[in-house]
Amino acid sequence: MNNLATFNAPKITVVGTGYLGATHAISMAILGFDVLGFDVDHHKIAQLRTGKVPFFEPGLPEKLEEALASGRLHFTTNMDEVARFGDVHFVCVGTPQSADSAAANLSYVDTAFAELAARITRKALLVGKSTVPIGTAARLTQMVQDISPLGPELELAWNPEFLREGFAVQDTLHPDRLVFGVSSEWAEAVLRRAYLPLLEEGIPLIVADLATAELVKVAANSFLATKISFINAMAEICECTSADVSLLAEALSLDSRIGGRFLKPGLGFGGGCLPKDIRAFKHRAEQLGVGQAVRFLGEVDSINNRRRVRTVDLIRELAGGSLAGVRVAALGAAFKPNSDDVRDAPALDVARLLYMEGAVVTVYDPEANANAHRLYPDLNYVGSLAEAAHQADVVALLTEWEEFRRADPDRLGALVRHRRILDGRHALDPDRYTSRGWEYRALGRPYQRAVPVPQDVRKPATQLPLFGWQGQGQENLVQQGGDSVP
Ligand code: UGA
Repeated sequence: MNNLATFNAPKITVVGTGYLGATHAISMAILGFDVLGFDVDHHKIAQLRTGKVPFFEPGLPEKLEEALASGRLHFTTNMDEVARFGDVHFVCVGTPQSADSAAANLSYVDTAFAELAARITRKALLVGKSTVPIGTAARLTQMVQDISPLGPELELAWNPEFLREGFAVQDTLHPDRLVFGVSSEWAEAVLRRAYLPLLEEGIPLIVADLATAELVKVAANSFLATKISFINAMAEICECTSADVSLLAEALSLDSRIGGRFLKPGLGFGGGCLPKDIRAFKHRAEQLGVGQAVRFLGEVDSINNRRRVRTVDLIRELAGGSLAGVRVAALGAAFKPNSDDVRDAPALDVARLLYMEGAVVTVYDPEANANAHRLYPDLNYVGSLAEAAHQADVVALLTEWEEFRRADPDRLGALVRHRRILDGRHALDPDRYTSRGWEYRALGRPYQRAVPVPQDVRKPATQLPLFGWQGQGQENLVQQGGDSVP
């Protein structure tokens, strides 16, 4: 993709190099544009300049290296440089939940646009990519045009982002769709030039007004959250009958109108997006006087939070009725696999609730231990699955990392005090565990009792090289070609 010069490719800046911004800046450089990334965090910029991605995202370090080597990607902490450099300025700063309400905190977005507007002296397009409440782009347009010496010449567009953590590179370079929220033909033409490589690939494009573009993003995340909570509500029904939510989800997924994606029952959704986005959307709708239209999102949130409490109930039941002094191996802390993000992570919330009830919780996550430790320093963190499982009374699989899916029930069983497993993500084959003497429990599924097994398969832990396994990866705990439930 490298004949962009022939169509007068715009120079790109990306303001905010967090998860979204860093991925966007790197990807635009990979697509052939000259890109300048900006952040107020000097440490982050220093890391990016030297080829280090400040968070865990598979494939992104390789793309950063490639983009830096191309000479098209640079980083700065100087906003004057940004204003001079860019024809198109993408604003990718965070919109976390406010400390004192469900509303989105827009202070970073407001500051970024105001700082740009005060400095830009030639016609340029400001493009918001952050997730914002409806009406924000219209308000910001007014604000930047009031501030800017260019007045109405400085235009603003909204271009929501749909990338998933863990798939950020693929979702940015090969998105399902592009959405341009614009208020003029000029803005649309500029965005078409900024995304030419993707449009030439045939990625579908929706051109809309500013408010619709803002709404697409929050509506998409609300729909995904609703789908997850729907199947988890069905799990609640299953739990007071003898029905099995896994089979139910499978049967529903075969209806092509429903589909199986985001219909995976379990501990529910977390992360820096879905939970705060549905709350902010509900809050905004209430402000607009149409709260009733999305009141159900409150229920979606409640169903989701109840799954965490119910998971603790199941672990307590497995432990025999009380958690005091019970040793729990908490497998996973990140909000989902292939991420080190622990924001609103269901796994970590469960670990915290267990700890508060007196359990002795040992957490192991392949990537998120450090972030989890910063948030909950009181929990005990270890560097391997084997250490977490050592003498555990209950093993709780809370984030479905491949390493946990593929663990060998016998080798794991040799480490624990009791073979009892809670599968919080429906990631394991129950028969594989029960046939090796494990009690198996999962949300929305009938209790699966251990099948009696001959004594010789239950070797005491001392007969296996427990700590010799560290430093050799986890190979000894992992069954080659073991089941990997998609
Ligand atoms: C989500 C959206 O999927 C992206 O499209 C969007 O761009 C992003 O938020 C954002 O707003 O920035 P992400 O937060 O990376 O992406 O995570 P998801 O893959 O959507 O998963 C969210 C949560 O739902 C995870 O905790 C996951 O474990 C859970 N989940 C997902 C389920 O419990 N069941 C499922 O079937 C699917």
